Amino acid sequence: MYEFHKVKIKNIQQETNDAVIWTLDIPVYYQPTFIWQAGQHLTFKKNVNGEEIRRSYSIFNPSNSDDIKVLIKKVDGGLFSQAAQSEYKVGDTLEVMAPTGHFVMVPQDDKNYAMFAAGSGITPVLGMIYEVLHHSNSHINLYYGNSTVQSTLLKSQLADLKDQYPERLSISYFLSQEPIDVALYSGRINTDKVITIFKKELQQLDIAGYYLCGPGGMIDEVKAVLTENGVDKTIIHSEQFLSEGQVMSEKKKTATLDSGVMVTIDGVTSRYEIKQGEDKTLLDAALDSKIKMPYSCKAGVCATCRCKLAEGEVEMLNNYSLEDWELEKGYILSCQSLPKTKKIVIDYDG
Ligand code: FES
Repeated sequence: MYEFHKVKIKNIQQETNDAVIWTLDIPVYYQPTFIWQAGQHLTFKKNVNGEEIRRSYSIFNPSNSDDIKVLIKKVDGGLFSQAAQSEYKVGDTLEVMAPTGHFVMVPQDDKNYAMFAAGSGITPVLGMIYEVLHHSNSHINLYYGNSTVQSTLLKSQLADLKDQYPERLSISYFLSQEPIDVALYSGRINTDKVITIFKKELQQLDIAGYYLCGPGGMIDEVKAVLTENGVDKTIIHSEQFLSEGQVMSEKKKTATLDSGVMVTIDGVTSRYEIKQGEDKTLLDAALDSKIKMPYSCKAGVCATCRCKLAEGEVEMLNNYSLEDWELEKGYILSCQSLPKTKKIVIDYDG
């Protein structure tokens, strides 16, 4: 499951000045491997000057499609995202991991869902919107922020869905760098706006799930308003996006004791060690021991490295992705975990 597969680019489409859509050609023999749930992402790898880099991009097209589509927005200094804009051509081969990610949804009938997205945060959310509209009779309120109309990502897909499902999909667009007459929609999605939206549009609906994707600041503000207004935390789901090169934390990652780690992955169990004083997380030490553990961001954001702690204790330096129920079930992020016991057992298959 965590192997990289060779997949060709079937089509490249310019979405905005600084974003492209790749359609991937999934060979028939890989199709069972590349079945995905709405909201999941693909991890790509690429060698740049002898160094391997990995980046994750959410799949945004409907989950029953034959092809997979991802949107890649250029970010300043982003080695992968910049190459994606100009270096790749139709027919080029990519190295891609099967879809992963826990920011997913399975819609139910007769429900209301509320979604908040900003910028490329729309990608997993659009996948979920297709899922709700195609596979249930439920309703969606989408609140979507961008800087300008021109830079608004995936607007034609959203417009088509709005035409097809006018009664079931409500979209409110927010623009931060272009004037709009209605003050509510002018500027970033922030605390004051979410309070207004909640009181005017959401609190009278029985919302079955809130799905948030965008920069950390927006997610924190939306979550705070919702929980302060009595929304149960367990129905709020979020995924933060990380710009390439963005550093989430400078916390020191020094192991405070010698520890032996057993890891099971794709049915194979391996053992490795971390020595006291080494600046290594469980993931770093595994990679140094040539054990192929999955990862992408190494920053606590994407959850590609999520595994179950079956024995022992760890300290997690950062967690921007696991929800409370996952922590209660023993899931950890190996890229952020330091050993706190002499024996650690982790499992990627559980
Ligand atoms: S690799 Fe992204 S959270 Fe660990």
